[in-house]
Amino acid sequence: MALTLTDLSRDPWLLPEVDALIGANMPAFMSWESPGNWRWHGMYDRYAEHQLCLVDGAGRLVAAANGLPVHWDGTTSSLPSGSDEVLVRGVDRPPPDRPDAVCMLSVSVDPVHRAAGHAERLLTEVRRRAARHAPRGVIIPVRPTRKPLYPLIPIDEYAAWRRPDGRCFDPWLRTHLELGARQLGIARASLVIRQPVARWAEFLGHPLPGPGEHLLPGALVPLRVTADDHGTYTEPNVWVHHPAGPAAP
Ligand SMILES: CC(C)(COP(=O)(O)OP(=O)(O)OC[C@H]1O[C@@H](n2cnc3c(N)ncnc32)[C@H](O)[C@@H]1OP(=O)(O)O)[C@@H](O)C(=O)NCCC(=O)NCCS
Repeated sequence: MALTLTDLSRDPWLLPEVDALIGANMPAFMSWESPGNWRWHGMYDRYAEHQLCLVDGAGRLVAAANGLPVHWDGTTSSLPSGSDEVLVRGVDRPPPDRPDAVCMLSVSVDPVHRAAGHAERLLTEVRRRAARHAPRGVIIPVRPTRKPLYPLIPIDEYAAWRRPDGRCFDPWLRTHLELGARQLGIARASLVIRQPVARWAEFLGHPLPGPGEHLLPGALVPLRVTADDHGTYTEPNVWVHHPAGPAAP
């Protein structure tokens, strides 16, 4: 099926579909209040041309990739703490007039269209565009797709897991690495969601009577409940860097 590439500057009417696709692909708590989530639509407004969409012949959204231009000096030590910080900087400050890099914060493919190369096409397009205006390429705080099955394994160890054939264990991290991306490090607190325990308990469908680490379906790490009756989800991601230009063959 031939898909057309567009973006929210050319087809702003796709905005609700982009939101719906991302929402359907993520656990609900991922869109709760957080410094980054408060600014998510600010990213659409300010950087509409960086919100890429693949649509089918009937105009239906099949996949989306969301990002924004950033300043980055190319060193691991100067990476932001994660997606919250990227959004805070990108939306609260004036847009960079000469960005060094693009930061991709989300790639989503409609579940019926997975494993068809659409995510790869979007990543390749972002790299190609970066070659024109962001010479340091593309940085991504990757949310490894199979990590929710292993919430007790530290993210550094998980990211280092390899299959018997030597390929990366996590399918989404593998896609990046096999396109020629390099793993830069861990974004330990990429997205932080702090909410009253009652809200988490309602979401889980069971009470959280005491402090400690509680398992949260769809989360990469446990939820930390503290004695002040709040629960904090601190999502770690894996920073990867794609050079600008064509992807590895
Ligand atoms: C992450 C995501 C965009 C990847 O899209 P995709 O179309 O699955 O990407 P790929 O085609 O590169 O697939 C990656 C691997 O997963 C495998 N895969 C994808 N969908 C699969 C499915 N339904 N069943 C089995 N394997 C699947 C692919 O075969 C591929 O494995 P390979 O490297 O051995 O070939 C997509 O899974 C998604 O939208 N997930 C939910 C949102 C998300 O977590 N986004 C990432 C963080 S922002």
